[in-house]
Amino acid sequence: MTIAQRDLPNTMNLAATAVAAVDLTSLEDAKEAIFQAENAGIRLRCLGEGSNVVLMPKVAGLVCYVKDASVALLARDAESVRIQVGAGKNWHELVEETLSQGWFGLENLSLIPGSVGAAPIQNIGAYGVEVAQLIESVTVIEANQKVREIPVGDCSFAYRDSIFKARLTSAENAPVILSVTFRLNRRPDVNLSYDELAAFFGLEPFQAGISKGKSPSPLQVANAVVAIRRAKLPDPQEYPNVGSFFKNPVIDADAAQRLEAHSVRPYEFGEGLKVSAAQLIDRAGWKGKRRGDVGCWPQQPLVLVNYGRASASNLLEFAQEVQQSVAEQFQIQLELEPSVVS
Ligand code: EPU
Repeated sequence: MTIAQRDLPNTMNLAATAVAAVDLTSLEDAKEAIFQAENAGIRLRCLGEGSNVVLMPKVAGLVCYVKDASVALLARDAESVRIQVGAGKNWHELVEETLSQGWFGLENLSLIPGSVGAAPIQNIGAYGVEVAQLIESVTVIEANQKVREIPVGDCSFAYRDSIFKARLTSAENAPVILSVTFRLNRRPDVNLSYDELAAFFGLEPFQAGISKGKSPSPLQVANAVVAIRRAKLPDPQEYPNVGSFFKNPVIDADAAQRLEAHSVRPYEFGEGLKVSAAQLIDRAGWKGKRRGDVGCWPQQPLVLVNYGRASASNLLEFAQEVQQSVAEQFQIQLELEPSVVS
C-alpha cells in the first residue's frame, strides 16, 4: 500500500491534486489507511469515479479508492437473489451484468456514471427508481476500524441523500463504504411510472407490479433508458459534466401558486411538491448559455458542462449566477447536487 500525491480523475475534468492518496485492495489496507490518517491527524475520505463531485484544486487529507469490484451471489430463491458487490465496481457494468444473469430491478438506473460505492451516498435515482429500493444493506468500515453492515432502514435514504452524504464534506471521517448488498428480482416486473419512459413505448405510465397487458422486458427498458439519456445528456468523455448540477427543489403551496403565473407546473413528491429545476433554469433564460468554458447544456440546462479548461471556481461562480437568477425570478433557492470537495 503506497500513499502518495495524486492527480484525481473526475468527470468534470477539473484539475485537482490530492496531497495524499491510496488504493485499498484489501480490508487490511483499509484498516492501515484509517490508522495512518488518524496518526497524521488528517481526514480520510473515499472517492469513486469522481462523477458527482466538484473537486477544488488541492484536496486535503488522505483520499482513498476502494478497488474491490467483486460480485458475490449470497442467496437465491424462486423470487429473488441477494448479491454483494464491491464498492469499486463500475455502476453501469453492474447493471448490464445483473440483467444478463436474469436479475432485474436496476434497469431504470442504466448508464448512470460512477461506482457502486458511490451509489448509496446520494441515493442515485432516475426514471422512477431510486437505488435505495433495491439495497438491502451497506457494509462500511468505521473510524474505529470495525466493519459494520448497515441495514437499509438505518441509512436515512431520501431524495439524493443518505447518512453518508453529509459526512463526505464534514470535518469528521466518513465511514468507508466497502460493499453494497442488493436484493434483485428474478421475475421481470418493470417500472414504467416515469412519463417519458412509458411514452418511449407508447404506453401510459404504470408502477411495477401493476402492469396490465403487454409490457416491455427489463432489457428493453434498459435500452430505452440508455437511448433517452444519450439523446439528452452530454457524454462526460466528450463534454465533461457531473449530471444534474442542482436538485429539483421541494416547494410549498405558496411557491407553487406563484409559479402558475409562469406556467410552471410542480409535480407531487411524497407529501409535498417538487418542481423541475431544469424548467426553472430554462425559463430564466440559461439554456445553452456560456461564460468562458462553463455553460448550461442546450438539451438539458440542469447539466453544467466544462467546455475546455474551466476551474472549480469558474464552475461554482457560474452555478451561483444561475442560482441568483432563479431566486430573483421565482423566489426559489436551488441547491447544488454534487458535493464540493476541498
Ligand atoms: N426541461 C425543460 N427544459 C429543458 C429540458 C428539460 O424545461 O431543456 C424540463 C421538462 O419539463 C422536463 C423536465 O425538465 O420534462 C424533467 O427533465 P428530465 O426528465 O431530464 O428530469 P430532471 O428532473 O431534469 C431528474 C434527475 C436526473 C435523472 C432524470 C430522469 C435530479 C436533480 N435529476 O432530472 O438525474 O436522470 O430526472 O429520472 O433529480 C443526476 O442526478 O445527475 C441526474 C441526471
